[in-house]
Amino acid sequence: MLLEARGIVKTFGNVRAVDGADLAVEEGELVGLIGPNGAGKSTFFDCLAGNLAPEAGSIRFAGLESTRLSPDRHARLGLARTFQVPVVFAGMTVLENAMVGAFLRHESRARAAQKAAEALEFTGLAGQAEMPAAALGTAGRKRLGIARALATEPRLLLLDEALAGLTSSEIETAIGLLARIHARGITLLVVEHIMEVIHRLTRRVLVFHQGRVIAEGSPAEVTANPEVIRAYLGRRAKRGEA
Ligand SMILES: Nc1ncnc2c1ncn2[C@@H]1O[C@H](COP(=O)(O)OP(=O)(O)OP(=O)(O)O)[C@@H](O)[C@H]1O
Ligand SMILES: [Mg+2]
Repeated sequence: MLLEARGIVKTFGNVRAVDGADLAVEEGELVGLIGPNGAGKSTFFDCLAGNLAPEAGSIRFAGLESTRLSPDRHARLGLARTFQVPVVFAGMTVLENAMVGAFLRHESRARAAQKAAEALEFTGLAGQAEMPAAALGTAGRKRLGIARALATEPRLLLLDEALAGLTSSEIETAIGLLARIHARGITLLVVEHIMEVIHRLTRRVLVFHQGRVIAEGSPAEVTANPEVIRAYLGRRAKRGEA
């Protein structure tokens, strides 16, 4: 198992954002993580990537106990992530933003620039390499987050709503990008609200609700699961989103 989390708990005051979450991802998988707003998906990612220390539970990544390691240690072990609100270093160019990832494994500026340029090429940002990152729109910022993560040369990439806020043609491009990342041998765990994306990309989906996984299966299985419909999909259908 590449990533295994057991009984993860993270509270904020009296909000149990993550409340006994379990997860196991094998190398080479592309797993979806869905669930209603506030279910705790992003907080769970923060625990998995070392951005937050869980109060209970244990996480193993790449054969090591990783529960309380820093984000940097996680990145060194091969776990990279993007954030729901993309992190952009606004005073730097697009290339320099991607170099922040590449410096993890390459001390030489020239080598880091080369690795970062490759990541920009792969994500379709090569033409904007010298632009100030602040000039990028939503789709560009999301792609830059992916490029910076790829520049760390990860084994596992956690994507938190990488396609949210994109137009339908940008979503098509992004689905192609995710498929190409996976084809490179990188394991993916993706939080995504767009069910069409889940259906097209994943074969296994976990459904998060109130801080834990309440269902798991193929996209067809989870979308037919009455508990999932009650907790998540039914509500979206009423709002015309599903
Ligand atoms: N830093 C924080 N301080 C206090 N409460 C927080 C913090 N981060 C998250 N929460 C709360 O924890 C719960 C889980 O939030 P989280 O952002 O993890 O959910 P989510 O599943 O990612 O939701 P969304 O689909 O809207 O992104 C929510 O009730 C949220 O308000
Ligand atoms: Mg979230």
